[in-house]
Amino acid sequence: MRKVEEIKKTGATFTPRPLADFLSSRIMAQLSSDQCLSVLDPACGDGELLLSISTQLAGMGYPFSLSGYDSNKRYLASAQARLQQVDSQHTTLINGDFLDAISLPDEQFSIGFDGVSQLHTNQLFDVIIANPPYVRTQVLGSENAQKLAQKFNLKGRVDLYYAFLIAMTNSLKDNGIIGVITSNRYLSTKSRESVRKFLTENYSIVELIDLGDTKLFDAAVLPALLIGRRKKNRHLSSPARFIKLYEELNGYQGACRSATTVYDILNTQDKGYFQVNEKRYKKTTGTLTFDTTNGWDMLSEAETEWTGRIDATASCRKFG
Ligand SMILES: C[S@@+](CC[C@H](N)C(=O)[O-])C[C@H]1O[C@@H](n2cnc3c(N)ncnc32)[C@H](O)[C@@H]1O
Repeated sequence: MRKVEEIKKTGATFTPRPLADFLSSRIMAQLSSDQCLSVLDPACGDGELLLSISTQLAGMGYPFSLSGYDSNKRYLASAQARLQQVDSQHTTLINGDFLDAISLPDEQFSIGFDGVSQLHTNQLFDVIIANPPYVRTQVLGSENAQKLAQKFNLKGRVDLYYAFLIAMTNSLKDNGIIGVITSNRYLSTKSRESVRKFLTENYSIVELIDLGDTKLFDAAVLPALLIGRRKKNRHLSSPARFIKLYEELNGYQGACRSATTVYDILNTQDKGYFQVNEKRYKKTTGTLTFDTTNGWDMLSEAETEWTGRIDATASCRKFG
């Protein structure tokens, strides 16, 4: 049993298999290659995400190699045992701090591994799948937070996942695909403007899935999934799909479609109200608009029209 304190300190809330499979399937939908795909999980824990994506890659007949990194030896040993059954061309598992090991001189990223020759990760990977640790600043400690802020040029409150996003991005090839689970806070809060800007500049965001309070896993924060393709041209942005799924707690009494699991709701094209056992959920889908300052808008077509009308009325009042 992993100790609560250890989990808090290292952000080691592992991804449950169904969520790992869901994330893998969304990444898979973006792949098309007959070349060997190099896959990285920079905080691989006991290897759930690597295991999940390997199964799907093998199922589709893709050749692939795996790299995993984790600061905890015990988790890594477990990953090693679990990944032995996987039919990858190479599997490299590294025990160490991914952020510490990465060096950023002139955007030349390389990560080192104790006792083993350097593994260069600058634009090395075709696919990154990750659930980076979520560790609160107080738990991180001010010295660590300062070190990270300096290294990754982070302003304001230091979030470990933001440092991971920067490090992962520089490990991804142009056109490489990232699928990542993070806290959903950066989607809307003013203080995470820099995270949104970074993502908008570095990725063609394919899909954002805000899992809200669906409690698909035991994390201390509300999770969101981002699927993106690394892009060269910072100024080009293309529309992204979004899905927002929240438990319905506003007393909605209308009709609900029934679903067996929350994943069935996520996988169907339908939106609206759903019921899984006793719980009701509201699923909204639409197009994400990129406004780095005010947050990304995740509004359905109907909501966009509605807010447009409110904005128009407000500006009439202001100038009328
Ligand atoms: C949220 S868990 C995710 C594990 C696994 N990828 C999964 O999804 O189940 C985060 C993992 O990051 C590891 N970790 C924390 N800080 C790290 C760091 N700086 N470098 C590498 N791994 C780190 C923890 O030991 C933990 O296993």
